Amino acid sequence: NQSSLKDAYKNDFYIGTALDINQIEEKDAKTTQLIAKEFNAITAENIMKSMFVHPEKNKFDFETADKFIAFGKKHKMFIHGHTLIWHSQLPKWFSEIKDSAEMNAALENHITTIVKKYKGKVDSWDVVNEAVNDDGTLRKSVFFKALGEDFIAKSFQLAAATDPKVDLYYNDYSMENPTKRAGVIRMVKKIQEKGIKIDGIGMQSHWHLNSPTIEEIEESILEYAKLGVKIAITELDVSVLPSPYGMQGAEVSQRFANNEKMNPYPKSLPDSMQVKLAQRYADIFKLFLKHKDKISRVTFWGVNDTQSWLNDFPIKGRTDYPLLFDANLQSKKAYYNVIEAA
Ligand code: XIL
Repeated sequence: NQSSLKDAYKNDFYIGTALDINQIEEKDAKTTQLIAKEFNAITAENIMKSMFVHPEKNKFDFETADKFIAFGKKHKMFIHGHTLIWHSQLPKWFSEIKDSAEMNAALENHITTIVKKYKGKVDSWDVVNEAVNDDGTLRKSVFFKALGEDFIAKSFQLAAATDPKVDLYYNDYSMENPTKRAGVIRMVKKIQEKGIKIDGIGMQSHWHLNSPTIEEIEESILEYAKLGVKIAITELDVSVLPSPYGMQGAEVSQRFANNEKMNPYPKSLPDSMQVKLAQRYADIFKLFLKHKDKISRVTFWGVNDTQSWLNDFPIKGRTDYPLLFDANLQSKKAYYNVIEAA
């Protein structure tokens, strides 16, 4: 009979949440209390991304990120930095660089300035985010186009040289897909073969009710662990909505034009679905516990359902119910199942 998520898993791994600006500013006491009670790790959902901290080539802006760090310190939490090098949410100046010397200089200035600023404050960093495609090849990002695959090892090297103590992670989604996994493992091995430090692999874990299967998740945990790195579950949520990825363009726009049609559960999640979600979370946490020696942290991508990014992704206007707390910050059945699994 445990009183919170972090207490229930205190001997196993950190239990984290992503926080966005409103939550950090502590605008609502109930939300702040809930965060402090349930979680002992935080990740910035957006505010440490390059478009926010490095908006112009010669201008850094750490005001909001500093508030995030202060929040974590105040509540004695493990602080995870997300993310140094990512092709998305990139400021215009960065996304337009084509020249390799210019990209090298930008990468160096970006990584060393940020890692130095938060040396001793941030406990781990996502150094590179989403560099591998689903087919296992490397994404042809602006970084790749300018520097080739070297940008990955170089990013880790810069981060390690700036703060030798902070844990350095590679983070990505669909990490359970065997083809993608093979690409990630190839990439990590190349970093290791160069003698460059990489401490961990982040499995984002934006999952669905039935996929990936527990067996697929387990296989990935075991395969990544063979690299001798820590594994973190970095952005966990379980969508209850059908994935729209298989739809054709016309169908997507048709549905986009009519929010109601896109959303099978407009008002609240039906009881039968609550039960399914809770069962899924129980299965997931039982697996995490089985491999607790390999898992450093499990972080949810948001605190409660209304605030989840999935309400706008991959199509805007859907209502999803992927987290453990509902719109009124009440614990869902899934919450109790996660506590009971411990
Ligand atoms: C998402 C945020 O949750 C949204 O608020 C934002 O609009 C887009 O980014 N992979 C990642 C995260 O690494 O940074 C993304 O976060 C979700 C997917």
